[in-house]
Amino acid sequence: MTLDETRGRITRDGIRIYEDADFAGMRAAGRVAAEILDAVVPLVQPGVMTETLDDFITEEVKRRGVTSATIGYKGYRHASCISVNHVVCHGIPGPKLLKDGDILNIDVTVIVDGWFGDTSRMYVAGELNRKAERLIEVTHDALMKGIEAVKPGNTFGDIGHAIQTYVEANRMSVVRDFCGHGLGRVFHAPPNVLHYGRPGTGAVLEEGMFFTIEPMVNLGRPETKILADDWTAVTRDKSLSAQFEHSVGVTATGCDIFTLSPAGLFHPTYRR
Ligand code: MF3
Ligand code: CO
Ligand code: CO
Repeated sequence: MTLDETRGRITRDGIRIYEDADFAGMRAAGRVAAEILDAVVPLVQPGVMTETLDDFITEEVKRRGVTSATIGYKGYRHASCISVNHVVCHGIPGPKLLKDGDILNIDVTVIVDGWFGDTSRMYVAGELNRKAERLIEVTHDALMKGIEAVKPGNTFGDIGHAIQTYVEANRMSVVRDFCGHGLGRVFHAPPNVLHYGRPGTGAVLEEGMFFTIEPMVNLGRPETKILADDWTAVTRDKSLSAQFEHSVGVTATGCDIFTLSPAGLFHPTYRR
């Protein structure tokens, strides 16, 4: 362990250990991000452009007096990533019309008093078909299995293993090319939170670690490629992909989920 220039400390794996008081900052930031994802639910309909959803999110960020973490991040220009159907992540909002049966992930990160809240969830335009519903269900439940593995003494490999085992038991695949990440007063920090792995491997979880878990799950093969826009990641085999993301903090007995939906709309966002 080394002492850091500010409060807290950094583990030998380079992971910051935050203090008790810091949980309140993360809760506030996570709540705002989740509220914005709640607010967008009624707008997701066939015939709506993804850039219209992003414009709404930009307004919601402003209205709350907080800051978008993604606008200006490595040249990214939008307040959300919107990833439709076979887009795995980092879909760029644009003049693309949603059509009946489309499934989409909307990912929002805000900065509130210097703390980062990062969350994403799945939405449906119109009627949801059975295969897509199963994918969304399995992806959500895989995230929650990962979160159940979050407690001091467990390892990051335990989280990845819980997710991978569940996804593969359902004959779907875990994307390897993207991972979760530490966050706090920064957007992306160590560790890389892999959504696959072996029990007991990787860094040991300690109280005060803040990170995201954000599994991407494909109906087909796990391989992805990045489109010419340098952002949009798609499945190589064009199969459907889904993702859910929470920001969490390790507590003495388990974890706090900072990005729970105040409206109870994390999943499902649609009626059945
Ligand atoms: N919110 C994404 C994540 O979960 C990162 C988006 S970066 C952007 O880490 F620039 F593409 F917006
Ligand atoms: Co993230
Ligand atoms: Co995100």
